[in-house]
Amino acid sequence: MPKISEEVIKEVLQKTDIVDIISEKVSLSKKGKSYFGLCPFHNEKTPSFSVEPERKIYTCFSCGEKGNAITFKQKTENLTFVEAVEDLAIKANIDLDFGTYKRENPHKKYFEINRDAENLYKLYLSSTKQGIIAKQYLVDRGIKDDVINAFNIGLSPTEFDVLYKTLTEKGILVSDLHDLGLVKQSKTKSFYDLFRERIIFPILDERGNTVGFSGRSYLQTDKDSPKYINSPQTVVFTKSRVVYNLSNAINEIKKNNRVVLFEGYMDVIAAYRANIKESVASMGTSLTTEQVKIMKKYTSNVTICYDGDSAGIEATTRAIKLFERENMQVKIVLLPDNLDPDDYLSKYSAEKLNSFINEKWMDKIEFSYIQNNMGIDHAKMIDIERFKKTIFDLIKNTSNTIIERYIKRLATDISVSVESVRQDFNQYTRKNIHVAGDRFKRAIPIDSKYLFAERRLLCYFLSDIKYVLKFNAEFGEIFYINSMTRDIKHLIEDTHYKNLEDNKNSDISEDELVNILNEEQLHFYNTKVKNKMIMLFDKEYEDLIGTIQDYLNFLIQTELEEKIRAAETATEKIELAKYRDTNFKEAKHGQR
Ligand code: CTP
Ligand code: MN
Repeated sequence: MPKISEEVIKEVLQKTDIVDIISEKVSLSKKGKSYFGLCPFHNEKTPSFSVEPERKIYTCFSCGEKGNAITFKQKTENLTFVEAVEDLAIKANIDLDFGTYKRENPHKKYFEINRDAENLYKLYLSSTKQGIIAKQYLVDRGIKDDVINAFNIGLSPTEFDVLYKTLTEKGILVSDLHDLGLVKQSKTKSFYDLFRERIIFPILDERGNTVGFSGRSYLQTDKDSPKYINSPQTVVFTKSRVVYNLSNAINEIKKNNRVVLFEGYMDVIAAYRANIKESVASMGTSLTTEQVKIMKKYTSNVTICYDGDSAGIEATTRAIKLFERENMQVKIVLLPDNLDPDDYLSKYSAEKLNSFINEKWMDKIEFSYIQNNMGIDHAKMIDIERFKKTIFDLIKNTSNTIIERYIKRLATDISVSVESVRQDFNQYTRKNIHVAGDRFKRAIPIDSKYLFAERRLLCYFLSDIKYVLKFNAEFGEIFYINSMTRDIKHLIEDTHYKNLEDNKNSDISEDELVNILNEEQLHFYNTKVKNKMIMLFDKEYEDLIGTIQDYLNFLIQTELEEKIRAAETATEKIELAKYRDTNFKEAKHGQR
């Protein structure tokens, strides 16, 4: 077999941005010169996988995996060396003729066997007596030959070993069929087919290789068995890494610059019939980050169109989070009356489904509004308060038009005046001071005792999660004086404390901090925090919280003074002063 020359390999690696390649599969964050993320080669909760762009290598400090862009592609995509180099060369615009190199994917054998099975299933649907009945079922659901061909739909025979017999007679090893989950072995050691008497949907990987199957029961007599049976996890099939119909949809996704995501195979097929061909499914409701990253390779716009029932809405909420974490733009389609897209098509029409998806989508705020509004008991004050705050949080950083629109809508939905909602909103957002220190930096110097107190609090945050929780309860996770303290606290919350199982020691090791913090933060920690970590007492913690509370009062009061000064009428000034005197009698500009 011819070899690729050393120079070619060098050039490919040279022109490849390893961070770019790895980011397709791992969320990386920059720490100094390196990038860190969760290792894709073993299960872990804290990042120990590092990528060094300068040396163009990756290393996992935990499991020891290391290599370059080529090995990474090989291992994560099941490619041969030549295939991986070829892919990288295309991406880096290196024009090389790879035609002479023999491509040999170790999984090629399996793909071919799956293709044989697929062909058998297709033949069974098109040319047998059983196929006539199965086809009738499909026709009744609106699926005709063009769609059957586009999705390579087939039928598995009723008899228990047709596939087993046919393929082994062809010379295929039963061990291979077994590896692919196509046949199982009974207690008496005889082999039988996994899929029997089911409509078969072949499942292809991104490159169009058949990696698995899903079979749907279609006979009335079959009411007791599961609706769908899927191939088990095999060397070529990992459910969490496959996006149904992606290989067929890639060109359309690129052309339309969006992907439309559904829950089920039947929904993808319905969308196809409605001429929305950039359609894929997450194979059941459990969308994974890996699937999101795969879709993101082709577009950063996604329209989620899950079932319109409560399970679908819940799954949508989860999916939105996953897509937003990968910085994708999300639109949501919520079908009426608990319908799934396929039901909607049957009930109305392909045209109606098309226009519903293309025209009746909503943005995330709208979706959250509807979703939260559904969950509340309008007779309960606490529900209404929580609802209001949720919406305030969603709109507070948007335009005035959006804010106004939702304030009006809230007023209608909770039956209060627009004016009162507006007041609540203003009050609520004023308390949401992200970094108070930044906001007042120029106008009012921050007393160093406050800064000291907050820095000291960091020692407590780092020592035990209970202090973090207490602080959050007190200040609603939002009040900070200094952004460095805030960022470090958020980082340990998002990494170490997030992954903490109950009753585990919450100590953070120095090693872990080095991984979590960037250079600047680490410097801050080493010079200003580390050496003060020894003597910590609950009593001191309470005092520190008190000091921060003072500062918060001081800020509110300062703002109040400004408002009094700016008030246009004397009555307004008097009202505000009264409010100040009743609420802040004791606290004189934050002095205790
Ligand atoms: N699913 C599965 N196993 C099941 C049920 C569902 O794997 N026992 C997955 C399938 O990928 C299915 C998706 O979940 O396509 C959505 O399930 P559901 O909405 O129940 O099925 P539909 O796709 O609507 O199929 P149909 O219209 O034929 O009922
Ligand atoms: Mn359905």
